[in-house]
Amino acid sequence: MNIDPLKIKQIHHIEFYVGNAKQADYYYRNAFGFSRIAYAGLETGDRGKTSYALQQGTIRLALSSPLNPDSHISEHIRKHGDGVKDIALEVDDADHAFEIAVSRGAAPNEAPHTLKDDDGLVRRGSVKIYCDTIHSFISRKNYTGPFLPGFVPSKVTGREAGLLRIDHFVANVELGKMTEWEEWYKRIFGFSRFMTFDDKDISTEFSALNSVVMANDSRSIKFPINEPARGRRKSQIEEYLECYYGPGVQHIALLTTDIISTVSRLRENGVEFLEVPDTYYEALNQRVGKIDEDVAKLRKLKLLVDRDENGYLLQIFTRPVEDRPTLFYEIIQRKGCQGFGKGNFKALFEAIEREQAMRGNLV
Ligand code: FE2
Repeated sequence: MNIDPLKIKQIHHIEFYVGNAKQADYYYRNAFGFSRIAYAGLETGDRGKTSYALQQGTIRLALSSPLNPDSHISEHIRKHGDGVKDIALEVDDADHAFEIAVSRGAAPNEAPHTLKDDDGLVRRGSVKIYCDTIHSFISRKNYTGPFLPGFVPSKVTGREAGLLRIDHFVANVELGKMTEWEEWYKRIFGFSRFMTFDDKDISTEFSALNSVVMANDSRSIKFPINEPARGRRKSQIEEYLECYYGPGVQHIALLTTDIISTVSRLRENGVEFLEVPDTYYEALNQRVGKIDEDVAKLRKLKLLVDRDENGYLLQIFTRPVEDRPTLFYEIIQRKGCQGFGKGNFKALFEAIEREQAMRGNLV
């Protein structure tokens, strides 16, 4: 198996379909610290949608809203609410990536085509993944613009919070589908299994899930896939699948090199995080050993810590960022540890279940 058949360079951006992109742009700038870099809409000749492109570190988001009820974006929002449409990947050659992906069994979404403006040229095609989510393949041909052809520069500085890059993003799929998607990423992307977790690692008194982490050869793109496992009550994965009306992106983990400063700023900006009980910190030293950070600060900010043989990580999870309990964010700092916080799964899932119970969804 060719280890990098599509020649993926990096995640180019993540596109969200949202009900009101103008307000989402404000939220991501003022709550999460992104800066706006580009804009497309009526003023730039786009009659169908408005899009704002935002950036912080190397993380790029596109927030898009439809301008008419017949748009496929309107249909996506009607069904799913606000959510991730596209995990767009920059590749050497979009035509080649599309051709190889489709020849290996990926369902085509949009054939490669040229996007062009005064700043140059980009080729873009896309394939379907779970439900209505897609992967675009983007290759630049001497393009020098701020985001993609069709966008104009639109600079509005956000309340920068020190977020640097996407560490991983996670999909929730239906019961029994995890292995199918694992095979899909192996066959079509040449990804391999980096780690797995099962219901012995990830279970509470009430619910459980299975997870497999797929990664490219360099580990620069890490992509866990979750499915629900049988439990006594409805798991957080089942809640997501019901509320999103299908599988989709559950969370995006954003990397910082100073989580105390980043999360302090995000909290000041009004980002809401999951609560963990104080008892978590009483057992912390015993569980993770010596760490550089002051535990009192971690307790104040409700940061979680986990360790593997290579070091430790600090992490925290936001509440869902829409009214439907679907997509949320993880903020993560790695100090050697390449894991995903296995030692925190129980505390974390119990915190989610407390919120699920409040929503009437832990039944
Ligand atoms: Fe995560």
